[in-house]
This record gives sequence, C-alpha cells and structure tokens, in this order.
Amino acid sequence: MCGIVGYVGYKSVMDILVDGLEQLEYRGYDSSGVAVMCDEKINVYKAIGKLNNLREELQHHRGEFEKSTMGIGHIRWATHGAPTVINAHPHTCNCGNLVIVHNGIIENYKELREDLAKKGCVFRSQTDTEVVAHLVAQKYAQTKDLAKAVREATKEIDGAYALCVMHNDCKNTLVLTKRNAPLLVGIGDGEFFAASDVPAIIKHTKKAMYLSDNQVAVLTPEKMVLTDIDGHEIKPKIELLPWEPVALSKMGYKHYMLKEIHEQPDVIRNILVGKLHAPDEDIILNEVKLTKETLKKLNRIQIIACGTSLHAAMIGKYVIENYCGIAVDVEASSEYIYRRNVTDEHTLVIGVSQSGETADTLTAIKQAKAKGSHILIITNRPDSAMAREADSLVPVNAGIEVSVAATKSYTAQLMAFYLLALYMAEVKESTSKAELTTLKTELMFLPQKIEQILANTDSIQKCAKVYSSTKDFIFVARGINYPTALEGALKLKEISYINATGYPAGELKHGPIAMLDETMPVLSILMKGCVFEKLLSNSEEAKARNARMIALTNSKDEKLDDLFENIIRVPDVEEVFSPLVAIVPLQLLAYYIAEFLGKDVDQPRNLAKSVTVE
Ligand code: AGP
Repeated sequence: MCGIVGYVGYKSVMDILVDGLEQLEYRGYDSSGVAVMCDEKINVYKAIGKLNNLREELQHHRGEFEKSTMGIGHIRWATHGAPTVINAHPHTCNCGNLVIVHNGIIENYKELREDLAKKGCVFRSQTDTEVVAHLVAQKYAQTKDLAKAVREATKEIDGAYALCVMHNDCKNTLVLTKRNAPLLVGIGDGEFFAASDVPAIIKHTKKAMYLSDNQVAVLTPEKMVLTDIDGHEIKPKIELLPWEPVALSKMGYKHYMLKEIHEQPDVIRNILVGKLHAPDEDIILNEVKLTKETLKKLNRIQIIACGTSLHAAMIGKYVIENYCGIAVDVEASSEYIYRRNVTDEHTLVIGVSQSGETADTLTAIKQAKAKGSHILIITNRPDSAMAREADSLVPVNAGIEVSVAATKSYTAQLMAFYLLALYMAEVKESTSKAELTTLKTELMFLPQKIEQILANTDSIQKCAKVYSSTKDFIFVARGINYPTALEGALKLKEISYINATGYPAGELKHGPIAMLDETMPVLSILMKGCVFEKLLSNSEEAKARNARMIALTNSKDEKLDDLFENIIRVPDVEEVFSPLVAIVPLQLLAYYIAEFLGKDVDQPRNLAKSVTVE
C-alpha cells in the first residue's frame, strides 16, 4: 500500500528519497511525490503512475534541489479520490508552508473537511490526507510549535495514520507520528531517516526505532526527541533491523517472484533449523508460550487471516484437527471483525500474516485479545504491529518477500503449521510416536522434492504456453488440497488477470459444471491419498463435458494419460505434505502465464503488498 520516506541530515536528499520510494514500490502504488526544503521554501514535485514519471519530472528541476538535505516522499495507493497529480502526496496547507505525507485512512475526514472549509480552508484534492495538512497548519498558527501542532491535530483525528510533516519555518525539522500504521526512524550519524517499512532505509542504517501509537518524534540532524501525545518526553527504544540489503536484490532472476519461488527449499531448511534435529527427537517450539498443561486441555482454536495466509490457515486447520484432535475454525479476518464473536480465554487464536500489518487481521487479533484469548502470531515480520500483539510469536523467517504475489511466505506459513501441529500432537500424545517419526522424516526430505520440481519446469512452461490465451481457469481438488486449488487460482488471477476459481471437486456438479465446455481448462490437483479416486471420478465428469483437462499429480497411474491432455508430475510425498509440493508448480504456472502475457509480475495492477486499510 502507500509508502513513506523522509530524511534530515547532511546528504543530498533527493536521491535518498527517490531510492527509498523505489524500495517500497513492491507495496503497490499509483502515484508518487516528494517535498524538499530548498533555499527559501519547500518545493513539491509529483507524478502519476510509476516512479520513472516522477524521476522525469525531477529532471526538469534539478537545479532547484541539488543542495537540499531535508525532505519527505510518498507513493500513494488511491483510496479517497482517483490517482491524479492533485491527489498525490505530499499535500500542503493553503499557503504551502506546511507539507505532509500520510499512510492510512482518516475516518472522520468528511466532518473535519466541512469544519475546516467553514474556517476558510480551500481544498484542492479529494483525499482524506489534505484535511490533516490544513488541520495541523491551523494548530501551528495558534501554537507556533510544529510538534505541538501535530499532537493537537491528531487528538481530533479518527482512523489510521503514519504522518511525516515539514514546515517552512522549521528549516531542519521533520515531525513524525502514527496510529495503527507502521512508521520507523532510521538512525545515522548526523542524520535521521523516516520510513513506513524497512527496505526504504536498510541501505543506510540498521539502527532504528519503531514509533508506537500516538508517539511524536521530532528529528533534526543532531537529535531525535520523542514524546507521547501530551508532550511528555519518552526514552526511544532503539533496535537493530534484521534485514540484509542483499535480500532486496533479484539475484539474476528476471522477477522477484521467480527468485522467491526458487528460494523455497532453503526457506524450509531454515525453518527446520533448531526446531527439528532428528525424526526420533521431539520438535522444539519455544516460541509457543502456552504451558504444556494448557495445551493438553485446549479444545478450540480460531485462525484468522486474509488472502494467501487464509489458504495456509485452511491447511493448518486440516493438519491440527487430524493430528491433535482439536476443533479449529478458520475465518477471513474481514468477516471475523464485524459480528459477535464467540471467543474467550479458553480459545487459542492464531493470526497468520506475511506482513504482520494487514489491517483486518490486526483488528481481529486485537478484538480476540480483548476477550482474553491467547494470541499466537505466525508472521514473516517479527518487527510488525501484529508481532507486537502476540503472546506467542512464531516467526517464519522466509526473508523479505518483495513480489506482491506471496509464494515463499506461504510455504513458510505451511511449515509453521506443520511444526505447530506436530509439536502439539507430541505434547497431547494425540498421535502415535511411530507415526510422528514417519512424518518428521518426510518433513526433512521436503526441500529436495521441491528442488526436483524447480529443476524440471518443462511441463509447466508448456502448459503456460498452451493455456495463456484462456479467459477462465478452474482449479479443483479435495481434502487437504482444496486450499491449494484456491491458492493456485489466486496466484493466477493476481498476476495474469485471468478469471481463475478454485472449487472443492465434489461441488462441481452442484453448479460450476454448467460452465464447462471445450474452452474451459480444469486443473485437477490429484495427489495420492484418501480422496484420489474420488477426485479422479470428478475429473471424469468434467472431461465428459469436454473441459480441457490438466492434472497435477504424483501418481503414475496410466488411466491419467487418457483422461488428461496435459500432466504436470511432481515427486511422491505423504498426503499431509502434498500441499507444499503441489503449490510450487501452480506458482510457476501462474508466473509463466503472466510472463507470456507480458504482465507486470511483481507489481500487479490494483494490488498492494501490505494491505494496511480495512
Ligand atoms: C497474496 O499473493 C496476496 N498478495 C494477498 O492475498 C495477501 O496474502 C493478503 O493480502 C494477506 O496479506 P498478509 O499475509 O500480509 O496478511
């Protein structure tokens, strides 16, 4: 979603801002802008579309900002008002003295706007952000203290925001604040950085401070002053950022998505390190802070997530119920938060999120926490807002994921669920030791199996070529791979814009079968196990309606050659782990189709990496 970068120090600011915004591009955006303190005043430059358009715009003005050492920048993902230059950030007050960038949504912006208009403010944009510029400017006119003005203004604002503010009167000062949206300060020597996410500043410093809600930071080249919303000074909590700059390179791959798909075997290995030493040894999951006694008595789990993380959660339900005998409900966070939810201190609530910042999941987690549930968070970002809400934090360590389409983080989430389920099964003694040993042995072989798929992509590329001109695509599966069908379909639609849907195969004849004809590709995820024969019959039914049948399978059954026009084969694997093996070809299929179609694979239209608004 939107991204913020800020700098105050001694270096030429423009390159730092534009480069920082480039590192946030993966979050998704449709316009960009910067404001820099020039000799006499703040200058603002904006453009719609990709950052290159902003770079071009800046070319015409180079002379104006060459010596500038302070500024703020923003990439905007439109929420209020179309992606136009006027709606792009930074926004200014009437006189242009105060400039602001904002992530999040101001919920009471209409009321504030009406009120400010009555007081003489003239609005140029349709954004919710512009009201904040006017509001802070008004407070500044009364107080002549920028930090105080920001504090007073935020007391009147409802909603989520990360704000970065500059004023012509304060030549070397940036003021930052936030509520329910991430913002951090990077600490250098004689310089400070502001950013909504680590990649924007990691090149420059690993020393940082995350702002907590309602804190206000005043940055000058010499120092940072941190206060609460009433102006009381607080000691900053400085930490070392975990990301290496190299994680942000494509490492020779054409797209981040392809690189991230190929990282999956190593991601699995990394997750196993320190947690699973040998098949006959117990799993070590010190991250789970529930006592063994509580775990033994636990009889209900709720899992909340969105998108790809929701699909991982659905597989988590299957595995936990199967091996631990605990009832698990899975729900989309956006549904969970707007109904009366039955949860309490006896329920374990698991939040799953790559970014750890997804607004709906964060709200759901806070609601469950307020009701006394133990909160376990599975996230790729141990530095995120969700992680800070966790009673138990299970970081998945997939490394930064840049491509908007989640791939390696999904694999990592599945691994977290496998480890959690097997760990709980050990504690509860709900599965025999012999079976657990077999499962742990298989778990350790998964990276090699995925490597085999990645080394052999011919059949996947062939399918991509054959089906890239299709308008619709159906994925079917049963049992533990039904969520794989959903995830395969999500990947395809996200990056190729083909209308793809995942169905439980048994549901085909209850409606979707009406859509089948000789133009419709149907991909069956036929992994060996308890539903194999059933799914084969469902595939026969689809074939009888002339659908273009494709199999993704680990079976060598010859019947398949007659039934399917294309077959993608994967290595043999225990049914319970088949989702991990089956998803990789589907990620690749989506990738190659999008590539053939010339789509913007890493930054698909309308999507954002981190969805920080409800
Ligand atoms: C995945 O490819 C998507 N971009 C999207 O569905 C994503 O999984 C969803 O927005 C949830 O994000 P989170 O895991 O960061 O919470």
